[in-house]
Amino acid sequence: MREPSWSQKDVPCLNSASRRATQDPAVLWSRVGLESGQVVVDVGAGSGYFSFPAASRVGEAGRVYAVDVSADLVQFVRERAERARIRNVQAVLSTPERIPLEDAVADVTLLANVFHGIPPATVLEAVRVLRPGGRLVNVDWKKEPSPEGPDVRHRLSKGEAEAALSAYGLSRLDSFDLGPYHYVLVFERPLPSRRPRRLVSAE
Ligand SMILES: C[S@@+](CC[C@H](N)C(=O)[O-])C[C@H]1O[C@@H](n2cnc3c(N)ncnc32)[C@H](O)[C@@H]1O
Repeated sequence: MREPSWSQKDVPCLNSASRRATQDPAVLWSRVGLESGQVVVDVGAGSGYFSFPAASRVGEAGRVYAVDVSADLVQFVRERAERARIRNVQAVLSTPERIPLEDAVADVTLLANVFHGIPPATVLEAVRVLRPGGRLVNVDWKKEPSPEGPDVRHRLSKGEAEAALSAYGLSRLDSFDLGPYHYVLVFERPLPSRRPRRLVSAE
């Protein structure tokens, strides 16, 4: 992750029209199968590049929490939602250690262009807010040179990301490319295992 922190000065870059050609949110949400009525937690949402298209898909019955540690970007998302009268996007200010949402609220948790730079405490929070049976979607830069994006040395390969996320108790469901520079890994938070009931003798 780049330091110092992200702010509204980054919005032109985060919302650039050219991004759609290489990281199309509509393609992502369609492939993930995001449905009307679902709840999404977008961790490290930035300008809401993936959050607002998610909100269109989940509709009025659904909700998108756009979570970020940058108060400036949280304010940007809040004002953008208010201006456009979008009521199902809620901007949420977090810290690296705490996402102020209840356990298991999300059907889908998104980590887009952030997993290579966030601490384990944030990943634990991203998993905590996901319901058992829900999906964690990780979109990140391939670990190879590209005309844009973070230094290759700071990126995680798909294999590294898969191993790291599996260590949080997640099971991989799917994997695909989003445009030429990104991979997507889709994980499930497993349902609690049912222990077999002890057989009691009828005697
Ligand atoms: C590269 S931008 C990605 C924004 C957005 N996901 C996208 O793809 O357009 C990274 C964002 O993650 C936020 N961020 C960094 N560390 C974070 C953390 N520990 N928890 C939540 N957000 C974080 C930054 O403030 C910034 O807005």
